[in-house]
Amino acid sequence: MSKRYFVTGTDTEIGKTTIAAGLLCAARQRGLTTAGVKPVAAGCERTPDGLRNEDALALQGQSYPPLAYDLVNPVTLEAAIAPHIAAREEQVTLTAKGLAGACEAVFARGADLTLVEGAGGWCVPLNETELLSDLAIAHKLPVVLVVGMRLGCINHALLSCRAIAADGLQLAGWVANYVDPDMSRPEENLATLRHLIDAPCLGVVPRLACADAEEVAGFLDVSPLV
Ligand SMILES: Nc1ncnc2c1ncn2[C@@H]1O[C@H](COP(=O)(O)OP(=O)(O)O)[C@@H](O)[C@H]1O
Ligand SMILES: [Mg+2]
Repeated sequence: MSKRYFVTGTDTEIGKTTIAAGLLCAARQRGLTTAGVKPVAAGCERTPDGLRNEDALALQGQSYPPLAYDLVNPVTLEAAIAPHIAAREEQVTLTAKGLAGACEAVFARGADLTLVEGAGGWCVPLNETELLSDLAIAHKLPVVLVVGMRLGCINHALLSCRAIAADGLQLAGWVANYVDPDMSRPEENLATLRHLIDAPCLGVVPRLACADAEEVAGFLDVSPLV
């Protein structure tokens, strides 16, 4: 049975890629097939093979059977800025329909678990009228929310949950990721999130010295997703 989810987060740089790679790794450890997609990546390096983005490479590394880079990351933008601005500057047309079509090429592989990583948070513009969340809506993807545990995250988490519900999508689960080693009252914040988020918590990931996918997978329960 192939399951697909859209991975969003409370902000940028809070662990969406880290957690997505960890969930894919946890699925692989159960003998499942996996696929990661980063439909649009802003912030790419020029290489002899073309533009490459580190999120997409991390997701590609946890995709089994292997996927070609262009399938994992169909749209590469060089500048590490808001995608709609990078697209405009680099003369790339970004649309929800175009990205949704590109995702279908990966969905057609039928992996047991496919995770589509967004960019930034839930409301990220693609162009003047569409948001990246329109891609999740187009495919009716249930959502996994990564909460970057830091001061202010409860507000960001609850706003994200409301927006996902208002867009008619299901919150399939959430992960607490301790990105800020100096967060005050971490346990109390976590308890509040558990109380207020109406979806399963898939894991609580501490601040790790090396947040590689195998290590992160050990803190995650992928079973509600597969
Ligand atoms: N639990 C963690 N422990 C230590 N470092 C982490 C953890 N989660 C994320 N990081 C690091 O924080 C940075 C941002 O994480 P990333 O997964 O790229 O975020 P996002 O995809 O939301 O932009 C990366 O350098 C990543 O290795
Ligand atoms: Mg990322």
